[in-house]
Amino acid sequence: MVVLCFTLTLLAQLVLPAHTFHNSNSSDQDALLAFKNSLSLDPSNSLREWSPNYNFCSWAGVGCSSCRPRVTSLTLTGMGLVGPISPFQVDLSFLTVLDLFNNSFQGQIPPQLGRLFRLRSLRLSFNQLEGVIPSALADCPLDKLGLSYNKLEGLIPSSLGGCHSLQILILSSNNLSGNIPYELGHLQKLEILWLDSNQLTGIIPPFFGNMSSLSQLTLGNNRLHESVPVELGRLTRLQVLTLRLNTLTGPIPIALSKCTNLQI
Ligand SMILES: *[C@@H]1O[C@H](CO)[C@@H](O)[C@H](O)[C@H]1NC(C)=O
Ligand SMILES: *[C@@H]1O[C@H](CO)[C@@H](O)[C@H](O)[C@H]1NC(C)=O
Ligand SMILES: *[C@@H]1O[C@H](CO)[C@@H](O)[C@H](O)[C@H]1NC(C)=O
Ligand SMILES: *[C@@H]1O[C@H](CO)[C@@H](O)[C@H](O)[C@H]1NC(C)=O
Repeated sequence: MVVLCFTLTLLAQLVLPAHTFHNSNSSDQDALLAFKNSLSLDPSNSLREWSPNYNFCSWAGVGCSSCRPRVTSLTLTGMGLVGPISPFQVDLSFLTVLDLFNNSFQGQIPPQLGRLFRLRSLRLSFNQLEGVIPSALADCPLDKLGLSYNKLEGLIPSSLGGCHSLQILILSSNNLSGNIPYELGHLQKLEILWLDSNQLTGIIPPFFGNMSSLSQLTLGNNRLHESVPVELGRLTRLQVLTLRLNTLTGPIPIALSKCTNLQI
């Protein structure tokens, strides 16, 4: 079926006049061009072929559905792009992957991204983003969210606890503050949780012991205090646990020896 769709799309590309194909959904092309126009710098001219003269499904970093000329992924990493993240991307209603890792995107994360109701993977790590993490992001069906190495501040939104599909949540190396919200304990599928190198306060929540899929938990370099909860000993899949550079007290719980997969 997929092959058939693909073949038909290919045929359409070959047979139909170029503009028919391009305009079959002009909102995706417009959204991409608005995104390009909002950039203030593209130092390597990585987006030079982003022009209406070419089918947008062949533009650098753009992936389309095999069945229709709709953008399903946008992957622009390590290109040195500077500018805001344009809210026009909300018009890319088929988008499942948005990966802008390692550029210099500035300003706030547009809360409108929460309206991308097919978005499963959002990676904005290693940029210059500031402001708070919009709680509306939890409206996407995300299974991967990476926002590390930015300048984000404020609280971790408790709404993220409603993203039941989340497997990877990476928020390290920002300036996030406040307690770790107990709603995160609802994320039963979470495998990787990196919260290190922020300004998080309060205790290490005992509910972490209920997140049975966790294999990596990094909490180092925050302002967490009191004791290490014995409940962590229930995490039999845990491979990585970092707690350094906090103000924790008390003994290292002997229960941690039950985490037999622990490597770090
Ligand atoms: C293009 O996509 C938009 C947003 O999903 C939709 O509202 C519109 O009906 C589509 N147009 C065509 C011609 O498919
Ligand atoms: C980011 O991209 C630059 C330039 O492509 C590269 O030199 C650097 O290693 C990348 N950084 C990360 C963290 O991947
Ligand atoms: C982090 O936030 C605190 C206030 O909460 C501020 O004083 C500090 O300068 C910020 N640090 C960075 C690196 O932005
Ligand atoms: C953890 O799980 C136990 C047993 O399933 C339950 O009684 C407890 O309320 C849970 N704790 C949290 C904080 O979710």
